[in-house]
Amino acid sequence: MSSPVAIVTGSAKGIGLSIAHELSVRGYRVVISDIDAAAAEISAKELDDAIAIPCDVRDEDQVKALVADTVAHHGHLDLMVPNAGIGVVAPILETDLAAWRQVTSVNLDGVFLSLRWAAPAIIASGGGSIVSIASVSGTTGTPLIASYAAAKAAVINLTKTAAMELRPHGVRVNAVLPGFIGTDLVTEAAPEFERYLGMEAGAFGQVIETKQGRFGSPDDVARVVGFLSDPAQTWMTGTALTLDGGLTSSLI
Ligand SMILES: NC(=O)c1ccc[n+]([C@@H]2O[C@H](COP(=O)([O-])OP(=O)(O)OC[C@H]3O[C@@H](n4cnc5c(N)ncnc54)[C@H](O)[C@@H]3O)[C@@H](O)[C@H]2O)c1
Repeated sequence: MSSPVAIVTGSAKGIGLSIAHELSVRGYRVVISDIDAAAAEISAKELDDAIAIPCDVRDEDQVKALVADTVAHHGHLDLMVPNAGIGVVAPILETDLAAWRQVTSVNLDGVFLSLRWAAPAIIASGGGSIVSIASVSGTTGTPLIASYAAAKAAVINLTKTAAMELRPHGVRVNAVLPGFIGTDLVTEAAPEFERYLGMEAGAFGQVIETKQGRFGSPDDVARVVGFLSDPAQTWMTGTALTLDGGLTSSLI
């Protein structure tokens, strides 16, 4: 059989790009997909045998086209990694419905659509897996990012439900729950956390480093995606795997 094929959404940079590299090393032909078409094209050139297909994961027609174009190009689809996500820092009392939906449309609807339309193609290819990037914020109350945390909690539940529905079809469904990873998402959110929490500039990062030991790296997450998606893990499904340097293991 020809090399396995993976789609990684939101993979022009950050965690998604590291996942794409990890999968490429593992022999996958990777589809770098992102709302930023130009950045996706540039990132795809970093990898052997990768192509870029732009897609806004909020748009069902674009997600359907992403899967269809991948299958048209490569002949099959073996792995979907719904990774695209955004963060907005604001208290609930300053969050209106439009701001709520801005986050949940990407971080929850986008994962649903990616899973929904990848699954039939993976089934048609003889089985495979789906590994979503959720967050430890989906398992704890997380002040100032209610929409983000609620969406991630929903992704964890969707992962478990989909795992049960898709097991008879040979599709494993798992999620990774990272703590704070050193990407643009956190770099851009840190000043907002500091403003709302009355912290000095740079203090938020110091708190995280104390609680986690260090910031996680995109490669830390990519290695876990490689592990969960490995076809040898035939019994691993419905798992929400925490990766946070101990952040959520201690009260103090
Ligand atoms: N950085 C962290 O600390 C952290 C922790 C836990 C979970 N995560 C999750 O990991 C995933 C990747 O985050 P990151 O830190 O690499 O962020 P990032 O901001 O570095 O990269 C996100 C990528 O997603 C793309 N994107 C945004 N909206 C999109 C859309 N509508 N459709 C398609 N692509 C879109 C962006 O263009 C960008 O390339 C997200 O789901 C995030 O919630 C991140």
